[in-house]
Amino acid sequence: MDQPVVSPGALDEEVAAALQAALQAAHRVHGATSPNPPVGAAILDSRGALVGVGGTQPVGGPHAEVMALSQAGEQARGGTAVVTLEPCNHLGRTGPCSHALLKAGISRVFYVHPDPDEQASGGARYLRDKGVAVTRIDTHSPDLVPWLSSLKLGRPHVTLKFAQTLDGFTAATDGSSQWITGEPARRQVHEDRQHRDAIIIGTGTALADNPSLTARKADGVLFANQPRRVVIGARELPAEQVPNLHALGFEQYPEISGALAALWDSGARDVLVEGGAALASAFVAADLVDAIQAYIAPTLLGQGRGVLAQAVGGTLADAARFELAEVSRLGSDVLLELRRKVA
Ligand SMILES: NC(=O)c1ccc[n+]([C@@H]2O[C@H](COP(=O)([O-])OP(=O)(O)OC[C@H]3O[C@@H](n4cnc5c(N)ncnc54)[C@H](OP(=O)(O)O)[C@@H]3O)[C@@H](O)[C@H]2O)c1
Repeated sequence: MDQPVVSPGALDEEVAAALQAALQAAHRVHGATSPNPPVGAAILDSRGALVGVGGTQPVGGPHAEVMALSQAGEQARGGTAVVTLEPCNHLGRTGPCSHALLKAGISRVFYVHPDPDEQASGGARYLRDKGVAVTRIDTHSPDLVPWLSSLKLGRPHVTLKFAQTLDGFTAATDGSSQWITGEPARRQVHEDRQHRDAIIIGTGTALADNPSLTARKADGVLFANQPRRVVIGARELPAEQVPNLHALGFEQYPEISGALAALWDSGARDVLVEGGAALASAFVAADLVDAIQAYIAPTLLGQGRGVLAQAVGGTLADAARFELAEVSRLGSDVLLELRRKVA
């Protein structure tokens, strides 16, 4: 029998607040959990007070439910757990979370996404069979989407990111591109990088920009979580030309499919492609772009270098099409977040 499903609007106030706390906990750990999913959990005591919040720890560490339960302690007895992913039901490196919830005396469980991993799924059924009231919340955790998508794809989820003028250019005719967008947009790029497993660029960008590809706060201090730095292309990258990458360490792969396979095998599930135009074109041509972040500045250049180096198709019917997921204003700029259009 399927679990009951409830829309977020129909949740009690306390459960709705616990859902927000769980979603925020998931966001905080996103980028530090792969190949495990970034999950958040919150525990309410029997009177509806929030007594525990936790997120998945790096591989080998406790899952979100166990973190939240350990904060709640005895107050979890008779309480409610809200989790962004169905509690796991397998031993793995840590014990099954379904068993931990039962042992702690939780009487109600709300979860967002069913676990698509065959080995780990079944937690909802196990808990229900033991008399726990289990309900699925009909919403999604944005931080889990890349992980869920990667599992279906069998390769890391790919987000293509670029900054462009209103008329679609990433650099002027003289090559100058710093900076197209303003400070709030650039800060958002750094905030986002800390949640990715890897940042990928082409050798062209590495040699032109000598980037450090780190995730930095406004004051220049590094965020705790740093993505892997990956360069794709066969050209050599001498230390004199790309000193920043050599100082920080990077991985280089000659071509895209080998890079994605190696990243997947070594645990990466969520990667960000930051250009340039030739590499971005190659990802689009190979149908490997699952999401796009387009930072758009209110600026016109008339001519310049485009987001992509090559035509996607000769006619409009061949255009690569995406769906609009989010629009945000960042100072004077706009961030469009798009995802693969499902036919
Ligand atoms: N405004 C923005 O958002 C933004 C972002 C990034 C970069 N940029 C600018 O873009 C410029 C660099 O762009 P770019 O187009 O010259 O270089 P690029 O796209 O960074 O790198 C191109 C290189 O990628 C490698 N590659 C591997 N597989 C490929 C494939 N299937 N197809 C194509 N290339 C593949 C090739 O390296 P090998 O030749 O070594 O094999 C190719 O030469 C810089 O000036 C940078 O400042 C702007």
